Amino acid sequence: MSNDETIKNAKILIIDEDVNMMEIISEILKGYGHTVSTFTEPVSAIEELKANKYDILLVNYLMSPVNGDRVVELVREFDKEIYIILMSMHKDLTPSIETMQTLDIQAYFEKSSRFDQLIIMIQSGIKYIEQLRKVKSINLKLDHYLFDFAQILLNTITAKDNYTGEHSKRVTSYCRLFAKFLELDDISTDNLLKAASFHDVGKIGIPDSVLLKEGKLTDEEYDTIKLHPVIAANIFSVSDIFKDIVPIIKHHHERYDGNGYPDKLKGENIEYLARVLSLCDSFDAIVSRRSYKDERSIQSALEEIKRCSGTQFDPNLADKFIVSVNNNINDIQSIIDNNG
Ligand SMILES: [Fe+2]
Ligand SMILES: [Fe+2]
Repeated sequence: MSNDETIKNAKILIIDEDVNMMEIISEILKGYGHTVSTFTEPVSAIEELKANKYDILLVNYLMSPVNGDRVVELVREFDKEIYIILMSMHKDLTPSIETMQTLDIQAYFEKSSRFDQLIIMIQSGIKYIEQLRKVKSINLKLDHYLFDFAQILLNTITAKDNYTGEHSKRVTSYCRLFAKFLELDDISTDNLLKAASFHDVGKIGIPDSVLLKEGKLTDEEYDTIKLHPVIAANIFSVSDIFKDIVPIIKHHHERYDGNGYPDKLKGENIEYLARVLSLCDSFDAIVSRRSYKDERSIQSALEEIKRCSGTQFDPNLADKFIVSVNNNINDIQSIIDNNG
């Protein structure tokens, strides 16, 4: 497989109990320049498919102890991309249309048919995979552009309010450490870190007279600042690409007791990752110096978090956060000292 999504030689795996038939098919496909691996039983074939990327799977429908449709079901759990051709010896032993659709089986080959039909199926399989990879790479580029756009927004606010940029970097670093401590999976970690980077982007919609004000804010000004999570949620609802991070950003100022904003969500109704972000965000606010308050030590910040556990913060997560900070005290200090 080459990098430009054009497949010259497909990697094909065949599973069939009928060794002779499998050898015939394998030789024909090799003649067309494809790389072929053959397996007489499904268990080791599935292990091989997990370990190495294949383009096309040819699997016999009727096998023991596991039938081809069950094999496909297992393969689809970890590989949604592979092009699957189900094979059968007899016309009357074909899988149902429902089975074909449910398991995303793209083609069916009757072994009594001419082999040139199989070659045509393999060629359309290769075209299908090439298209799929092209679409995937276009989407990846689009994802990239949109996150660049979000970064431009953050840089724009940072240009006038340096604190927001540095604070976002530090919060993202605390989130990275806390995600590791919580053993979050890769997707949740990625969503958390993106949300952390951009959680205060909504401040772009706050007038400078309020955003940059030195000293304490009036109640009215504070109400204006409180709009920033909704402004960010509106900005990021331009694309589905942000759909998993919007609820985290929108609710990073909700409180566990339901007295937060903007939606006064309570307890576990607040998205889990928003509760995680809220701890990291508040921790940074406490240890940072602002025009209206002095910075506080890490231990003093942890005491404050303990005091607000169950009211502002999810008590279970607050306990874990305190342990996580104490376990990573040197890293946390260096994030504070180096601004991220
Ligand atoms: Fe915020
Ligand atoms: Fe923040």
